[in-house]
Amino acid sequence: MQIIDGKATSAAIRQELREQTAAFVKSNGFAPGLAVILVGEDPASQVYVRNKARACEEVGFYSEVHRLPESTTQAELLGLIDRLNADEKIHGILVQLPLPKHLDEGELLLRIAPEKDVDGFHPCNVGMLTIGAPAFVPCTPAGIMELLRRYGIDPDGKRCVVVGRSNIVGKPMALLLMAANGTVTVCHRHTANTEALTREADILVSAVGRAHFLTADMVKEGAVVIDVGMNRDENGKLCGDVDFDAVAPKCSYITPVPGGVGPMTITMLLKNTLKSAENRAQKL
Ligand code: GUN
Repeated sequence: MQIIDGKATSAAIRQELREQTAAFVKSNGFAPGLAVILVGEDPASQVYVRNKARACEEVGFYSEVHRLPESTTQAELLGLIDRLNADEKIHGILVQLPLPKHLDEGELLLRIAPEKDVDGFHPCNVGMLTIGAPAFVPCTPAGIMELLRRYGIDPDGKRCVVVGRSNIVGKPMALLLMAANGTVTVCHRHTANTEALTREADILVSAVGRAHFLTADMVKEGAVVIDVGMNRDENGKLCGDVDFDAVAPKCSYITPVPGGVGPMTITMLLKNTLKSAENRAQKL
């Protein structure tokens, strides 16, 4: 059993990004810029947003965080997105999810210029991924594909099972594994006998958001297990979806929480933002 070290992989890629960014700034005279919009006081979102801004700084990007009160209106947000779409300093725009319930997420994501949609959530970019012509790919599944590549795990011809069907993780994950020639099954809360399906998986991705969801009896001997969960256990300790101590001995590879998928997500965001800036530089 080998542990997939997302922290070390992420650090190595960020070092590459630092060098690429320095070269980019030297030849173009401007830095890649990311704008993050955070509405309300969700504690997890506040941590994510702080980490995103810090990561930008580390690799030499320009970044700005728009922290807005819970009471912000849809019209105010649309206005802000319009201004950022037109702002030459900004190459990536990210609206931190989830949003307060009175806001229309779909309309806001649709308003972001697709060429600045570094989260890959705009229907244009979702469509490009669906037809196999990826533009910006959502960061968490992109990070998982990068981990698989760097650990020499090839989905070609493998049985891949994704548990969870969110727009942020499950759906794009299934598309990427399919594009890599995996045979993909997606399970969700209406699936009958999920355990029978997960037991067939060579590559098993859990993106459910429930501590202790994936138990040892649900995993085939020698499987690759990828844990996207970010949960708190009974003692308030950070944990994933996977019952790690029981599942790990059965796996060929497994990602821990923390230190697995998590660190890769922000790294892919940086990668997408640099790519967006490069696209812009080419047009100038
Ligand atoms: N909330 C949880 N994950 C993400 C993400 O990747 N991007 C954004 N914008 N919000 C999130």
